[in-house]
Amino acid sequence: MEHHNQQQLHEHGKRHDQHFYDSFLLVFGVLALMAIIVFWIAMSVADRSPGSYDLGGAVQEKLIDQRLAPIGDVQIAGSAETQTVSTAPAPAAGAAPVVAQSGKQIWEGTCSACHGTGALGAPKIGDKSEWAPHLAKGFTVLEDHALHGFLLMPAKGGNPSLSDAQVVKALEYMISQSGGANLVPHH
Ligand code: HEC
Repeated sequence: MEHHNQQQLHEHGKRHDQHFYDSFLLVFGVLALMAIIVFWIAMSVADRSPGSYDLGGAVQEKLIDQRLAPIGDVQIAGSAETQTVSTAPAPAAGAAPVVAQSGKQIWEGTCSACHGTGALGAPKIGDKSEWAPHLAKGFTVLEDHALHGFLLMPAKGGNPSLSDAQVVKALEYMISQSGGANLVPHH
């Protein structure tokens, strides 16, 4: 009985092993087949994409260089490449170029909107008779009104980004064009 049972168990185990072995082979076979298919697809894709795998060494290296190249080149001032371009001083960053603007440029940028056309009744540049009563107030008053406003004349011509010095420059330009050159203080 004992013996018989052991025999049976043994038989059963063998059948179990056989079953496992079959399944294992099947799964392994399917996996291997899939691997082969994937590999085959990868190879055919690689073959068809130009310039990836089958270029000569020199071309490859050039392409790699291009990909690794930094964006933009460092140029040494005075070298052949930069001589034609950078003889004129580069415009400084930020507010610097605005400071460098002439009174005329500042006037054109801000004051001309009214003083060029006479809008809002602003005295027109170059119109000496229109300007005469304003000029009679003296430079200090005109400067104060240009900076801080006066009736319909907005402070700094409505452009708060202008510095006081810039407004004064524009004022000096405007009145010297309008019969008030003698009022402009000598710096
Ligand atoms: C939005 C329109 C406008 C702009 C822009 C403007 N002005 Fe005027 N400005 C006027 C008007 C209007 C008057 C006349 C005020 C009055 O006397 O009734 C005037 C008058 C003046 C006067 C005479 C003030 C007085 O007391 O008689 C000065 C100086 C002046 N402006 C300077 C400037 C300068 C400098 C700028 C540019 C930075 C400028 N304005 C931009 C409208 C403007």
